[in-house]
Amino acid sequence: MSDLPLNPFDLTGKVSLVTGSAAGIGSGMALGLARAGSDLMLVDIQEEKLAETASHLSQSTGRRVLYTVYDLENVSDLSSLVSRCVQEFGRLDILVNNAAVTVRKPFMEITPEEFDRVLRVNSRAPYFLSQEAARQMISQGEGGKIINMASLTSKIGVQGVSVYGVSKGGVYSLTKGLAVELARHGICVNAIAPGFFVTDLTSPVWEDPEYRERVMSRIPMGRAGSPADAAGTVVYLASSASDYLTGRVLFLDGGWMAS
Ligand SMILES: NC(=O)c1ccc[n+]([C@@H]2O[C@H](COP(=O)([O-])OP(=O)(O)OC[C@H]3O[C@@H](n4cnc5c(N)ncnc54)[C@H](O)[C@@H]3O)[C@@H](O)[C@H]2O)c1
Repeated sequence: MSDLPLNPFDLTGKVSLVTGSAAGIGSGMALGLARAGSDLMLVDIQEEKLAETASHLSQSTGRRVLYTVYDLENVSDLSSLVSRCVQEFGRLDILVNNAAVTVRKPFMEITPEEFDRVLRVNSRAPYFLSQEAARQMISQGEGGKIINMASLTSKIGVQGVSVYGVSKGGVYSLTKGLAVELARHGICVNAIAPGFFVTDLTSPVWEDPEYRERVMSRIPMGRAGSPADAAGTVVYLASSASDYLTGRVLFLDGGWMAS
């Protein structure tokens, strides 16, 4: 057991890139990573919130936290995110593909434009950003961690979010496929599949008492998740504590999928 680190969750000296980290679950995970010792590059389209989050995280943790405003619908310049990370920090160890969008509409009303937008942000950007990150991790020669955000809809049907479900089914498969291809480079690829968390993404659920009641009745723990609930899980997947774990999708759902 001599190769077991004293603190297997310690991320001191590591650099993480977290997309969609201005708010919501992304900012909760960024806080967890910074508290565990990682420096951070935050990426989002919401400039003001992003600057606020970066400043709050660096002040509260003492870590170096930088940010880049970037629209992940644009996949043509994803390499710039990794190269900025390398310019500023000298390396990249952990990628968290967290940013996502949804369209809440019946299947029969979805347009091709809406379909393409959701797929570009939720599936295409994680695919090609992972490719850029893996290129850097392979060149560093010390392995790495890629963490994707899946969903209950990766596995089950949910009313009114069929396109989102298609994109998150893709994230589930992406996680498995990359885990197999990148394992020989020591890069672990796993996903977190949140149940229902209170964020901007799910605000329509919380505003509709009937829908809210239906959702809450499905959660054995009897409460929705909060961004802080994802912090420990992402630190586990980002750290050496999970070095032999790859291709797993962890349902972080208060017991929903177990019931
Ligand atoms: N909230 C939930 O209940 C829930 C459930 C299952 C899965 N998830 C997943 O967890 C992750 C985080 O969700 P959340 O609830 O915190 O969402 P959120 O909407 O609160 O946050 C998403 C962040 O991504 C950013 N973003 C959106 N489009 C972008 C783009 N084109 N380019 C760059 N940034 C962009 C937003 O500005 C926002 O800061 C997502 O992948 C989501 O699919 C959330």
